[in-house]
Amino acid sequence: MSAEQEIEQQESDFTKPLSLDEIQEKSDKYLLGTYRRAPMAFYFGQGEYLYDSENNAYLDFLCGISVTNLGHGEADLIEAVRDQADRIMHSSNLFYNQEQALLAEALIEHSFPGKVFLCNSGTEANEAALKLARRNGEKTDGTPVIIALENSFHGRTTGAMAMTGQDKIRQGFGPLMDGMVHIPANDIEALESAFDQYEGRICAMIMELVQGEGGIKPMSQDFVTRARELTSSQDALLILDEIQTGIGRTAKLFAYEHYGIKPDAMTLAKALGAGLPIGAMVVADDFTHLLEAGMHGSTFGGNHVVARAAYENLRIIMGREILKNAEGLSDYFFRRLRLLQESCPLVKDVRGIGLHIGVELNDHGPDVVTRCREEKLLVNCTAGHVIRIMPPLNLPLDSAAEGLDIFERVVREFA
Ligand SMILES: Cc1ncc(COP(=O)(O)O)c(C=O)c1O
Repeated sequence: MSAEQEIEQQESDFTKPLSLDEIQEKSDKYLLGTYRRAPMAFYFGQGEYLYDSENNAYLDFLCGISVTNLGHGEADLIEAVRDQADRIMHSSNLFYNQEQALLAEALIEHSFPGKVFLCNSGTEANEAALKLARRNGEKTDGTPVIIALENSFHGRTTGAMAMTGQDKIRQGFGPLMDGMVHIPANDIEALESAFDQYEGRICAMIMELVQGEGGIKPMSQDFVTRARELTSSQDALLILDEIQTGIGRTAKLFAYEHYGIKPDAMTLAKALGAGLPIGAMVVADDFTHLLEAGMHGSTFGGNHVVARAAYENLRIIMGREILKNAEGLSDYFFRRLRLLQESCPLVKDVRGIGLHIGVELNDHGPDVVTRCREEKLLVNCTAGHVIRIMPPLNLPLDSAAEGLDIFERVVREFA
């Protein structure tokens, strides 16, 4: 085959869909088996729908695990990415970069006075936060302590994994970094007693305001208020992991806005880039001095294309009343799901904030996900039997009704 023919062949590999069997065969042969994948592959996305190679349309109430919060194929977002890719994709952090500068400015304008570090994923944002915390701990005698929560999830790299409070994630990779103390979520007594026990050594506390992978479990107002008081009084950083909750998932741009507090640092990823890989750590002004030139970095972090995508994404969300729409939708979802709970004994609990919704079943979580998929609705299951529903923030009401009709029907099948 000539070079031209080879290039042509490669192009056609991506314009003509392979069959699902072919994709599965190559994936199983060449990709490390770290994921349990459903037997399907998507080829095209538009709005709240994903399409497979046979053109079956699936209603997407998962958003790629809270990533594509504006749905698929958002025209202005695509245009911005295309324009940016045409001009420049990467130059490196050895130089200034207009897209990063504008994105950081927008993030600060919409959060709290401070500065931003850009990286590529959630776990890396938390690694940055961990380094910030450890720098804050340099003043303490002995091993600095980070308070984290049981049942939390902060990522798969070793530092983020050490902060994660779930044995099933940590097992088999020891010894993990020490200095992590895990306490039960929403337990104010345990919180106070940890701050008593480790007084003088605590450099930070990290938490998700709604535990996502842990089963969509919101923190109580009292717990969050007390965590803010105790961290402030002991010069410990309050770090909020808003990787799953951030960028509108809870119908506010950031979940901390529901709690009337501000963090010292916040980590973001997932929906920040609306489908392109970018993570961020936002650090409040009082603590930006902790990381100086040469102390941290990333080759790709906030390159021209991903930063432009994140900037455009924020501009769309804040400029088009997307959060107001999400708030209205949230009322609708919770009203219907609570009615289902009242009439269906399989439903144990309905909880969450905004469009970060968990429906805990007494049993059959994975079966419900599979049946929903057969009925062309995408949701997933986490923490045993908690069905996670995370639709686009701009979902039309009739599509919300359509998806909920399917969901209710399927849940009742297993009741
Ligand atoms: C709360 C939270 N933190 C961190 C992460 C890790 O993010 P990533 O998979 O981008 O590394 C996740 C991913 O699910 C998450 O939900």
